[in-house]
Amino acid sequence: MEATFKPGFLKGKIVLITGGATGICYGIALGFLKYGARVCIMSRKLPNIQAAIESLKKESGSSEIYGTTCDVRKLEDIEKAVDYFIEKVGKIDVLINGAAGNFLVPFESMSANAFKTVIEIDLQGTFLVTKVVHAKCLKGRGGSIINISSTLQVCGVALQTHAGAAKAAIDAITRHLAVELGSQGIRVNGIAPGAIDGTAGFEKLTPEGGLSISMKETIPLNRLGKKSDIAECAMFLASDAASYISGQTIIVDGGAVLTFPNFTLLSPQVRKLLNPSL
Ligand code: COA
Repeated sequence: MEATFKPGFLKGKIVLITGGATGICYGIALGFLKYGARVCIMSRKLPNIQAAIESLKKESGSSEIYGTTCDVRKLEDIEKAVDYFIEKVGKIDVLINGAAGNFLVPFESMSANAFKTVIEIDLQGTFLVTKVVHAKCLKGRGGSIINISSTLQVCGVALQTHAGAAKAAIDAITRHLAVELGSQGIRVNGIAPGAIDGTAGFEKLTPEGGLSISMKETIPLNRLGKKSDIAECAMFLASDAASYISGQTIIVDGGAVLTFPNFTLLSPQVRKLLNPSL
């Protein structure tokens, strides 16, 4: 990743990444740190935050990483976390809404609370964190917001009605806020990752074993995504190089949505959930 951008090109930027302790968002945090940004992460679980801070420091060689616990469903938690970061680093220029919850569940057996839980974490969490960071940091100063979306809602993936509905609405938030906050110098964009190797989402949603080979073959760029692919898109969107881009959700999936069979239907785990008698 080092060679992609000029070293230090994000120096001076202060980034808050929700969900930054694990998965794709950990990769985003690492990218921003490597290129000179100061990074704040929050997650529900303290041990995850502590472990992430330690390994981000080691992997990036930077000590400009700060973290605290926060449940993005709770406004008071968010207010407290954002105040904590402002005290530590002074301001936030870039907000990356990546906190998400997910599980595979058939529509027929999904409880109202299961649906609500994912909507509250993914969608309402994006709304609430954006509201607090806007009021405390971006209003009057400008900045950049990046919402982490998905391609679930583009393909219509089985067992993902809750998550796909939340992500579709997040894409709508991206467009609405780009229009509403543009005159304040705030750009709002999204990133929709495809199958990213080494993440919980990938393990849940893709078939095991030999099938992953044909999966790669059906992706136009013939490989699975890497966390650094998403990090690089986020760094570009946050940088001055994207200063005239707003309201866009960029699909980063090697072209997969154009050609992908609905692989989740081939996953033994998904087939079992859809038809327990198998
Ligand atoms: N299948 C069906 N329903 C499920 C479920 C599953 N695998 N997991 C949770 N639910 C339902 C619960 O049964 C409950 O509904 P109910 O009250 O009607 O029974 C509701 O969802 C809330 O579950 P609960 O475990 O109390 O919520 P939580 O706030 O503690 O945690 C998650 C919610 C999404 C964070 C949790 O399921 C989780 O940790 N998931 C894995 C981690 C993850 O999502 N990583 C991101 C990958 S993209």
